[in-house]
Amino acid sequence: MPPAYNVALMTTHAAAPAVPPLDQHPWSVRDSADLYRVEAWANGYFRINQRGHVAATPAQGIEIDLHDVVTGLRERAIHAPVLLRFTDILAHRLGAIREAFVSAMKENAYRGDYRPVYPIKVNQQHQVVAELADVGHDLGFGLEVGSKPELLAVMAMTTPTPDQLIICNGFKDARYIEAVILATKLGRSIIPVVENELELRLVIDCANRYGIRPNIGVRAKLSSSGDGRWRDSAGSRSKFGLFTSELLDMVDTLREHNLLDCLTLLHCHNGSQVQNIRNIKDAITELTHIYVELKRLGAGLTTLDIGGGLGVDYTGEQANQFSSMNYTLEEFASDVVYRIRSVCDTAEVEHPTVVTECGRAMVAYSSVLVFDVLGSTGPRRFRQPPEIARFHEGPLEDLPQPIIDLQEAYNDVADNRLLECYHDAQQARDQALTLFSLGYLTLPQRALAERLFWATCFRIREVRDRTGEEIEELASLDLILSDVYFANFSLFQSLPDTWAIDQMFPVMPIHRLQEEPTVQAILADITCDSDGKIDRFIADGKPDRTLRMHALDGKPYYLGVFLVGAYQETLGDLHNLFGDVHAVHIRLEDGQWCIEDVVKGDTAGEVLAYVQHDTARLKSMMQRDCERAVRAGRLSVDEARVLTRFYESGLDGYTYLEPPDAP
Ligand SMILES: Cc1ncc(COP(=O)(O)O)c(C=O)c1O
Repeated sequence: MPPAYNVALMTTHAAAPAVPPLDQHPWSVRDSADLYRVEAWANGYFRINQRGHVAATPAQGIEIDLHDVVTGLRERAIHAPVLLRFTDILAHRLGAIREAFVSAMKENAYRGDYRPVYPIKVNQQHQVVAELADVGHDLGFGLEVGSKPELLAVMAMTTPTPDQLIICNGFKDARYIEAVILATKLGRSIIPVVENELELRLVIDCANRYGIRPNIGVRAKLSSSGDGRWRDSAGSRSKFGLFTSELLDMVDTLREHNLLDCLTLLHCHNGSQVQNIRNIKDAITELTHIYVELKRLGAGLTTLDIGGGLGVDYTGEQANQFSSMNYTLEEFASDVVYRIRSVCDTAEVEHPTVVTECGRAMVAYSSVLVFDVLGSTGPRRFRQPPEIARFHEGPLEDLPQPIIDLQEAYNDVADNRLLECYHDAQQARDQALTLFSLGYLTLPQRALAERLFWATCFRIREVRDRTGEEIEELASLDLILSDVYFANFSLFQSLPDTWAIDQMFPVMPIHRLQEEPTVQAILADITCDSDGKIDRFIADGKPDRTLRMHALDGKPYYLGVFLVGAYQETLGDLHNLFGDVHAVHIRLEDGQWCIEDVVKGDTAGEVLAYVQHDTARLKSMMQRDCERAVRAGRLSVDEARVLTRFYESGLDGYTYLEPPDAP
């Protein structure tokens, strides 16, 4: 478009068409529920109440208002970021999983038992495992471990409940296996799952040495490929399990040692967060065929352990997509039971006890991360076109050509020219920046160019939204024009899967939901890492690059990230030395919520010690430096005291930002 410079146009900013609001009806809580798709992902555990707050709904007719909880915690000097763990949601999940299998077994006239186990790798925090050992025990849940340290924790924790099933997966050395065999002597119901030949030899040696006949499990390498992000957990390239011919060798070896009847469990794990039910059906069918064949060869098999993998529909799409799944818990249970029964019935083999290791689906729903927004940045304040006189004193004709072009692009924005104006504005902005780098533009002129560019983009977007025109290239405008909300948390510590594997979690404000959220923004955490951000959010159809949030008004503004109970705490790291957040256990008592336990997050001193700093030495070095400054007259005694106090209380304080009035 040739630049036709026109002074009259330069001064007619007010002529931009007023854009009517998109929706005239007053915003309601229902609109917020639709916008954040709460019903799609919450699985009945969360809703928005009439006060416009998110509430957890762990039981019929009972709600725990998250904003009340956060306010109550603040009164107790426990500040965001904070992880809320809802004990009653966890208990409900265990019950729901159990119920799904029990019903499926009833429907299918299945004659075997159901014995679920909780893989503690999913969340090893003591309180979570203790809860699972406690509530889970009453519901028949056992525990699964994948390493020596996990076994050490579980051996002690099951002291009062020795009948709880313990499944031992993962690579095992002689000590690990010796501990398993001795735990059998101690009365634990424990099964080592053999992953390779060496482990088998160790199990046999140890069993002979201690004179016991242990229960032995084996993991099979299935040919059915896995699915989704963790598909390599299954299939012939999997790290784990025995090939078919190795299974046959194992049978021979056990027979030689007169231990074939001890081979009681067959295991597979098809990968985590299986998104397509078809993969589950194929794997279970294959596994059950192996089961009946091994039984035919004389193995004492009684139990089929189908591993984990039951997904969580984080996005609520109910689709064969990562972060979602195309089946329900009930369908999963029904398909598993039906497949096992069919294969066993055909082979005239007794129905085995079914073990599941579905960890994610047990704990994901029970934790919510809540953090506060500290402030924002973004081009929104440049929505209106600039006053030229603020940036340029001389005659308008003296303005550099790219700035004139930008002004033209702004003035030309109209229904049928959106893309053309956008291209013109981009080109003129780039030219202005080049001229600045070559020294031909002053700083105010550069600022003017930027302001005109933003104003043009906002105007293009407004017209696009008003007309509903769908132009693919203009979709990026939403991201370009969005704000950045600075949020008081570390992505690397609290949501590592968002960073590492693009896992999506539902994110939304936990209050002000009766108010229309008018700001489109992404979230940036407080680490000094540009990766520390969330810029993919759950929306209708495909993920959205921005989240609609409320304008900041100087009062605390809290956001929740939901369904974070699985894997996030364990995988989190200490990037920038941001440590564990406070974790608070909330339980229902007589229909009211109460704080059951507070696990304080790491202090700065603790994380420094974790990376081998001697905090006592750090304190004394600071003390000495202050004294030197006092002697040299650079600090007063009072100032030195303030500084040393600040330093010492800083070491004892939270690693995250706290309000100024925090004690
Ligand atoms: C052997 C085994 N069992 C169970 C699980 C738990 O899987 P999920 O949490 O997806 O159910 C895992 C995790 O990958 C695993 O490796």
